[in-house]
Amino acid sequence: MKTILFTAEQLAEKVNELGSQITKDYQGKSPLLVGVLKGCVTFMADLARAIDLPCEFEFMKVSSYGNDTKTSGTVKILMDIGCDIVGRDIIIVEDILDSGLTLGYIIKQLEIRKPASIKICTLLEKPSRRQTDVSVDYLGFQIDDLFVVGYGLDYAGMYRNLPYIGVLE
Ligand code: IMP
Ligand code: MG
Repeated sequence: MKTILFTAEQLAEKVNELGSQITKDYQGKSPLLVGVLKGCVTFMADLARAIDLPCEFEFMKVSSYGNDTKTSGTVKILMDIGCDIVGRDIIIVEDILDSGLTLGYIIKQLEIRKPASIKICTLLEKPSRRQTDVSVDYLGFQIDDLFVVGYGLDYAGMYRNLPYIGVLE
């Protein structure tokens, strides 16, 4: 039912690379990691431990998919972050950038609140499906137009706990 796209080892190596890059880029700063629930959880837990800087965590929950594998195009904030972000350096942490509608919406909502900077860190991206011009600052892997699960990514709530990323068939 599933073919493995990225093994746990490949994921760990990539996440460590991203963490090192963020550590270099944010020297002397204290970024606020804003995870997009629930898919970010596994990635963010590993990424944060690969960042050698003082960091804070916040989370947002938005809804756009229901149990479907295609976007409905509508984004709703189900849970907002719990702090003031004026002057903060924000890194949004996402599992996957697909159409870009979710991140596009979140960026707009956060920009209004006057942070010092907003950057995007996403583990996966499906470039062929992009509908907005959201640009990624830290990217794990580009993938084809496949529905993938594992390492935080779900189908109808399941498979998030797989230690690898696989293709759902
Ligand atoms: P976008 O708004 O179309 O960019 O959708 C992004 C969200 O859709 C991600 O945060 C995921 O929760 C979900 N998503 C998109 N593609 C996949 C996939 O292949 N597997 C699991 N979830 C996905
Ligand atoms: Mg999801």
